[in-house]
Amino acid sequence: MKRAVYPGSFDPITNGHIDILKRALEIFDEVIVLIAENHEKKSRFTVKERVEMIQDATKDLEGVKVDSTEGLTVSYAKRVGATHLIRGLRAVSDFEYEFSLAAANHYIDESIDIVFFMANSESSFISSSMIDGLYSENVDISNLVPESVVKMYKKK
Ligand code: COA
Repeated sequence: MKRAVYPGSFDPITNGHIDILKRALEIFDEVIVLIAENHEKKSRFTVKERVEMIQDATKDLEGVKVDSTEGLTVSYAKRVGATHLIRGLRAVSDFEYEFSLAAANHYIDESIDIVFFMANSESSFISSSMIDGLYSENVDISNLVPESVVKMYKKK
């Protein structure tokens, strides 16, 4: 079984993330969507809320699991027997950040490799904070995020 971990803040998950996830599932038998902490960010949704939104958004996709960790992503990947991490690249501006993140992960454990997918053109401009900004300005976000995210925003 080929297993990969797709780490991120997913605060909240967007259609761009779902696109990357679906494409990763064409290569890997199982992909674990892992909510990991970026300590430089202040979270909008709790981990429990994020897990709930992702579980609902991926309920029809075979081979997806959702989990969270407070520790290192590569340590988690090793523990669950994953060989690769999945990351998305939206634009050249993502490259520098991803390059240093990949280098840090490689330094921690070089046995876990990283696979990058280019975001599709429809979602290359989306980010979680942009979704949050649009929602707070009453712009319709329903074409940009799964239904579970819209519901969670309304509930909050
Ligand atoms: N579609 C839509 N948005 C996308 C996207 C896509 N395909 N790809 C990236 N993004 C956006 C996200 O929405 C997010 O937007 P935001 O900044 O507005 O929240 C942004 O790109 C990047 O977010 P994400 O991919 O979640 O990365 P991150 O920098 O928040 O988190 C972690 C990276 C959590 C994976 C990393 O910090 C980590 O592994 N932490 C655990 C600790 C660790 O292992 N540290 C060692 C390495 S330093």
